[in-house]
Amino acid sequence: MASVDSLIQLIQIGEQQGKAQGSTCSSALADDPWEIDASGLTYGPGASMQDVIPANSPRQGVLPHEYRNASKAELDLRIRAAKHALGDRLVMLGHFYQRDEVVQYADFVGDSFQLAQAARTRPKAEAIVFCGVHFMAETADMLSRPDQAVILPNLAAGCSMADMADLDSVQDCWEQLEELYGTEPDAQGRVPVIPVTYMNSSAVLKAFCGEHGGIVCTSSNATDVLHWAFERGQRVLFFPDQHLGRNTAKAMGVPLTQMPVWTPELPFGGNSADALRDARVLLWHGFCSVHKRFTVQQITAARMRHPGVRVLVHPECPMEVVDAADAYGSTDFIKKAIEAAPAGSSFAIGTEINLVQRLATEHPEHTIVCLDSIICPCSTMYRIHPSYLAWVLEGLERGEVLNRTTVPEDVAVRARVALERMLTVTPGSWQASRQASVAE
Ligand code: 13P
Ligand code: SF4
Repeated sequence: MASVDSLIQLIQIGEQQGKAQGSTCSSALADDPWEIDASGLTYGPGASMQDVIPANSPRQGVLPHEYRNASKAELDLRIRAAKHALGDRLVMLGHFYQRDEVVQYADFVGDSFQLAQAARTRPKAEAIVFCGVHFMAETADMLSRPDQAVILPNLAAGCSMADMADLDSVQDCWEQLEELYGTEPDAQGRVPVIPVTYMNSSAVLKAFCGEHGGIVCTSSNATDVLHWAFERGQRVLFFPDQHLGRNTAKAMGVPLTQMPVWTPELPFGGNSADALRDARVLLWHGFCSVHKRFTVQQITAARMRHPGVRVLVHPECPMEVVDAADAYGSTDFIKKAIEAAPAGSSFAIGTEINLVQRLATEHPEHTIVCLDSIICPCSTMYRIHPSYLAWVLEGLERGEVLNRTTVPEDVAVRARVALERMLTVTPGSWQASRQASVAE
């Protein structure tokens, strides 16, 4: 199975031959990330390349020449040597969407929920090198011990979706909602609105939720978290991903007419006061540019090409795509569904290409394809490159902590409230508690 890097190279050859590529993708993603980091404030090539990056986004400083010029083989030797020398003093965590060239060194690979748990349960390590994106490293910092250093090998590895909600806009929304709904609970003790932020958000937004009776969710416990929120509130303000919010609430029976989208620049988010009074879930307008690429047409084409194919998609995909799929769920759900299938099954997957390619390699007994034929990885996950990894690991080896991600304690203290609530709402816990109460 070809690596994602080499598939991007193939697209490059296609481009040289004059074959058209997708509108939002560029094979320049396979270029050295330090060239992209130096080229200005941008998410860089890949799925997010057309999104607007905030002016205050973290920038990555210059990577020393010796790492930029090192061959793959040299980097491999240096990373392994540094890891060996650091031993238990280091733990390396990696998200499923990381490229294989990086994932091969990780001590633990998982989805956002599992990685948050992992950060909390590795107290022996002095340093956690987080191969993922910025909001994940922030979360790891808040959940790990204060003396543990969390390191993001490339500080420019952000998330375009997380950047679609900022504190000022959310606060402004909250003030408008308080004016409309008041702050008094109803007869059942439920407050007018509970804020729920997706894990893919900055620490200050997690702190906002902690402070206002809210909670964090991930794609693996979103249903359980919405149940948690509806027990405490009449409505939910869900940010930043409208698709995860809509798909989850719709599956719980909330009608689309009671899920208005909140567009931050507009008064009442672009809604009438009546529509907001009737709302059950207010959906922030954000989206993931990786998952936005998947379409119903791709599903139809996959079913024609592979009769009997099972279509599995991530809940960050648009509603029409989730509705047309056979099943949907977090990255871990997709992985487990494939592991549980009888040999000879075929799958078309709607999620980031690095995970799809890895699953295809690990499961030669199945046919596994990506729904999207254009190889367009997450622009920011791809910024973690073995050269940056070698640089931070060798830094640690000589006692130098490079690229530390630290959340100020006044923010962390409030964000932890919302994160700890999230960690108590484990995936499937709501369903399990219902089954238990029926059995009693
Ligand atoms: P999960 O790992 O929760 O499935 O999230 C996917 C994602 O988009 C991470 O950025
Ligand atoms: Fe953000 Fe989407 Fe990339 Fe995840 S896959 S880090 S949500 S842009």
